[in-house]
Amino acid sequence: MKPVKVGLLGLGTVGTGVIRIVEGHQEDLSSQVGSPIIIERVAVKSIDKKRNIDIDRSKLTEDPWEIIRDPEIDVVVEVMGGIESTKDYILEALERGKHVVTANKDLMALYGSEILAKAQEKQCDVFYEASVAGGIPIIRTLIEGFSSDRIMKIMGIVNGTTNFILSKMSQEGASYDDVLTEAQQLGYAESDPTSDVEGLDAARKMAILGTLGFRTNVELTDVTVRGISSVTKEDIAYAKRLGYEMKLLGIADRDREDDQFSISVQPTLVKNTHPIAAVNGVYNAVYVYGEAVGETMFYGAGAGEMPTATSVVADLVAVVKNLKLGVNGLKAIVPYKAKKLKSDEA
Ligand code: HSE
Repeated sequence: MKPVKVGLLGLGTVGTGVIRIVEGHQEDLSSQVGSPIIIERVAVKSIDKKRNIDIDRSKLTEDPWEIIRDPEIDVVVEVMGGIESTKDYILEALERGKHVVTANKDLMALYGSEILAKAQEKQCDVFYEASVAGGIPIIRTLIEGFSSDRIMKIMGIVNGTTNFILSKMSQEGASYDDVLTEAQQLGYAESDPTSDVEGLDAARKMAILGTLGFRTNVELTDVTVRGISSVTKEDIAYAKRLGYEMKLLGIADRDREDDQFSISVQPTLVKNTHPIAAVNGVYNAVYVYGEAVGETMFYGAGAGEMPTATSVVADLVAVVKNLKLGVNGLKAIVPYKAKKLKSDEA
C-alpha cells in the first residue's frame, strides 16, 4: 500500500477544494484505490499569501518545476490555469512518466491533441473532467456512456458566470455590471472575466465537447462565438414577456445526411417550457441527443470550489485505479476521424 504522491499546481479556489476533498475523504478514497493519496507538494504564486486552508508551509513552492522534476511525484494535478507555460509543465511531467489531471479547458481546447499524443507515447493518463461543466461528469459520459451511440446534437449552458449573470438579470432585474462583480467575488469568473462574458470560455468547452461527442478534432476556430456583454436587462425583460429566457447556449449540431457539423456559442432565446430555461445561477446543463438513445440531459454546478474539485479528485481516483491495474495511458487517444465542418464547403 505505497502512498500515491500528488503534486498540485495551483492553490486558488479549485486547488483549495482539491485539498479539502483529498484530506476530508481520505479514508473512502484510499479504500477505493487501495493506497493513501497524499498531496505531497503544492505550487503557489506566493508562499506568504494568507489562505483559507491550513497547509504545511514546507509543502509549498513558488516554482512549479520543482514539482515537475521531483521523482517522488506520481501524479501532477494542474489547477493553476494559464496556457503556454502550463503546457510546458504538463508536457514535461508526461515526458517524465507522471500522470496528469487538469481542469484547464483553455489548454485542452488549444493543445489537447498534442498533450494526449504525448500521454499515449509515454503511457500516461491525462484526465480533464473538470475542464467542462465543473461538477457534471460530462466528459466521461461522452467518452464512455455514449460510445455505442451516434451523437447528433450537444446543447449546453457551459459557463456558470454568464448563466449566473443572465439569471439574476432575469429574476431580479439586476444590472449586468453589478452581477458580474458578484460572480467574481464568488470565484466563478475567470481572472479576466472577458473570456466568460464574451463567450470564449464556453467556446473552448464546446470545442472539447464537440471533439469527444463527434469523435473528430474540433478546433476553437471552428466555433462561432458571441458573448453577452451587449445584452441589457431590457432585452431580457422583453424576452420574458414573450415567454422566453435568454441563455448563453453552446450548440453543436451534426447533419444526419452528410455528417458535417457546426458549433456556435451565442445568447439564445429559450422557450420557458424547455428544461434548459429553468437552469439558473451558476448551474450548467448539457443536453445530448443521441441517434439511438434520444434525449438526455445532465445538470449540476458548473463552477466553484467543491463541485469543480469533485471532478478533479474523481480523475485522480481514476488515475490511481489505472496505476493499480497497470493500464495507464490506454484511454489517451480517441481515434478521431477527419473533420467535416459545414463552413469548410463554403
Ligand atoms: N469561469 C468559468 C465559468 C469557471 O464561469 O463557468 C468554470 O469553468
